[in-house]
Amino acid sequence: MRFLLTGGAGFIGSHTCVALLSAGHDVVVLDNYSNSSPEALRRVERITGKKVKAYEGDCCKAQDVNRVLENEKIDAAVHFAGFKAVGESVHIPLNYYENNINSTITLCRCLSAHGVKRIVFSSSATVYGADNQPPYKEDMRVGGCTNPYGWTKYMNEVILRDLQVSDPEWSVVLLRYFNPVGAHESGLIGEDPSGIPNNLMPFICQTAAGVRDMLHIFGNDYPTPDGTCVRDYLHVMDLAEGHVKALEYAVEHQGTEVFNLGTGEGYSVYQVVNAFERVNGLTLNKEDAPRREGDLPESFADAGKAEKILGWKARRSLEDMCRDAWHWQKMNPRGYHG
Ligand code: NAD
Ligand code: UD1
Repeated sequence: MRFLLTGGAGFIGSHTCVALLSAGHDVVVLDNYSNSSPEALRRVERITGKKVKAYEGDCCKAQDVNRVLENEKIDAAVHFAGFKAVGESVHIPLNYYENNINSTITLCRCLSAHGVKRIVFSSSATVYGADNQPPYKEDMRVGGCTNPYGWTKYMNEVILRDLQVSDPEWSVVLLRYFNPVGAHESGLIGEDPSGIPNNLMPFICQTAAGVRDMLHIFGNDYPTPDGTCVRDYLHVMDLAEGHVKALEYAVEHQGTEVFNLGTGEGYSVYQVVNAFERVNGLTLNKEDAPRREGDLPESFADAGKAEKILGWKARRSLEDMCRDAWHWQKMNPRGYHG
């Protein structure tokens, strides 16, 4: 089958290209490269030995989306495209609502006009908010987000559900990702954050590489076993393989379904730091620091539904995530611009 990946040159999109091509599918990418590089797609071609058809364009512009759909026969779309920096979303909320919501509406209108009524959407565990206790289950009440980025994920879920109710021919799969980290084992593709990374694993990698002086561990007084926050870290290639299953499911079912994509296991910041040091044989410059505003003590999935219905389960360990993240960082000290 042939799938459209909006934002397919990004971190998760590029790894999903590899997983789909390796599973025998074709991919077509639509990306405006606002947070990525076309080089990522050339690397995908190197890894797989297959072609990636790429269009440069903006998902908020109907003419850009229609250009793709007029040229390509598409079976379903994955909508990765969007802005994702939580802190930035607090400062420029209108940019986030505009890009993240308009892109979904425009994409769905164009897909529908071309008779492609199947979409897999990149949502986030952030929609569980502060009101639920982990392990998070798909049928928990969502909302209570703490920032505009989180609300865009929540609103997109609502929009896509309403669309499916209005037209039962649609198949909508909402994927709530937990904490994707790591890189393809080749070290050719990985996460290439612009500026100072917000997320833990890229910050660890840049500290190990000497790009950052010191890793700050945000909070050691949480009500968790060792006092640091617990998260459900997930290898990005496991996540990518989850999209293969989700797309195959979307092609065969109508309706709306939600799936957590996580391992179901939580690790603390100290555990991640220790695993990274042990697996890669190095010592990080690190110090305990005050809590970061907006952090929850614990977040991890109940991953049972994806296993039961999609037949998907994360296979890679925390050690794999730490080894592959560092391998990518060492091979590409300046990301795709090196
Ligand atoms: P990313 O920034 O690496 O990839 C997003 C891609 O979308 C980029 O290539 C960017 O250039 C492109 N893009 C943005 N706006 C666009 C537009 N209007 N038109 C065309 N292209 C556009 O991010 P990622 O980490 O790969 O995340 C992919 C999706 O998953 C995002 O929607 C993100 O919010 C969601 N998500 C990510 C995480 C995470 O930890 N990385 C967690 C939960 C959810
Ligand atoms: C963050 C976002 C979440 C988003 C996700 C994308 C916040 C509050 N949450 O999640 O909405 O979906 O990224 O992956 O921003 N940490 C440090 N030092 C660092 C960086 C992080 O100690 O330099 C700690 C954090 O306090 C947290 C853990 O590491 O406890 C994981 O942080 P991060 O990778 O940013 O992920 P989340 O906070 O889970």
